[in-house]
Amino acid sequence: MNRIFNFGAGPSAIPTEVLEEAQKNLLDYKGEGLSIMEASHRSKMYDEVHTEAIDVMKELYKIPEDYDVLLLQGGASLQFAMVPLNLYQGGKVQYVDSGSWSSKAIKEAKVQNLNMEIVADSKATTYDRIPEDIVFDDEADYAYITSNNTIYGTGYKEFPSTKAPLVVDASSDIFSYPVDWSKVDLMFAGAQKNAGPSGLTIVIIKKELLDRVGESVPTILRYKTHAEKDSLYHTPPTFGIYILNLTLNWLKRNGGIEGIAKQNEAKAGLLYDAIDNSNGFYVGHAQKDSRSLMNVSFNIKDASGEKNSELEAKFVKLATEAKMIGLKGHRSIGGLRASIYNAMTTEGVQALIDFMETFQKENS
Ligand SMILES: Cc1ncc(COP(=O)(O)O)c(C=O)c1O
Repeated sequence: MNRIFNFGAGPSAIPTEVLEEAQKNLLDYKGEGLSIMEASHRSKMYDEVHTEAIDVMKELYKIPEDYDVLLLQGGASLQFAMVPLNLYQGGKVQYVDSGSWSSKAIKEAKVQNLNMEIVADSKATTYDRIPEDIVFDDEADYAYITSNNTIYGTGYKEFPSTKAPLVVDASSDIFSYPVDWSKVDLMFAGAQKNAGPSGLTIVIIKKELLDRVGESVPTILRYKTHAEKDSLYHTPPTFGIYILNLTLNWLKRNGGIEGIAKQNEAKAGLLYDAIDNSNGFYVGHAQKDSRSLMNVSFNIKDASGEKNSELEAKFVKLATEAKMIGLKGHRSIGGLRASIYNAMTTEGVQALIDFMETFQKENS
């Protein structure tokens, strides 16, 4: 088998055990004689998968009783539109702009012509940190943050407190640490980083928010529609939900959310130490107190102390030859980025660190 180390930002690595189990059952799911992909979303065999995915998620992520889990389509980007469509009540909405994905969410809310405020941003420092002193107005219809900034490699160490419903785009760090649900009212994520393949979007929403939606909102775009039908209002992304279920069960077998959180801290610690101990050859983009545990964005500096894009391109090329892919930084900031989501093994991170050390010796 020729499995490489995939440091891509998304779609990204899926645990090998999960893929093996899916492979084993691909043609004949548990002796039913067909693939789960071919099964009706109204069949008993699919229903068991659907229900288990939601139940295991609630158990693992300790989601309180007064929240619904919705399994939708449309990616996280559809949520940029659905959040304001469902939660705006004619007051005001407040956003933190901590990077490209929050900027996109803000842009999408503007399309709906809402009374909107950006309460804090870190644009002036190329989004190298989570803005300090975030204060939301308790009266806002909702407050909005992006918990992990996939491109810039920053993440919140703690969510801001507010009486306004807090909406969290957790696309790139869902299921990677325990969540304090007393602070969060709606969390959403595209599945393609920590939860399975693309095409599935997870929304965890406090039930009391479901009734806010107005009648002019198209039926399919209402959270309430999906909540009332247990995410079976229309055909859900069944194969994605099957892989989500396998991924959640893999998490459960491997220490749950608390266990993976410890592993994530350890993995990211190894990589940031390697950057910090490189005598300035590798430089992290994020300020230390805002460092993401999921996406490590960094640059290479040459002897003159300048960022060197030629060396970075060489790094990506040689890393790819050494079976480590996906290390090119996002086109908006360039440089390098190692995405080390839940499924990235310590072995993979160590292989990258060894490669970085050799590359530095040969190129500095
Ligand atoms: C934090 C964050 N939000 C939203 C998105 C957009 O997700 P999608 O492509 O599922 O719309 C991404 C994609 O990388 C992301 O990282």
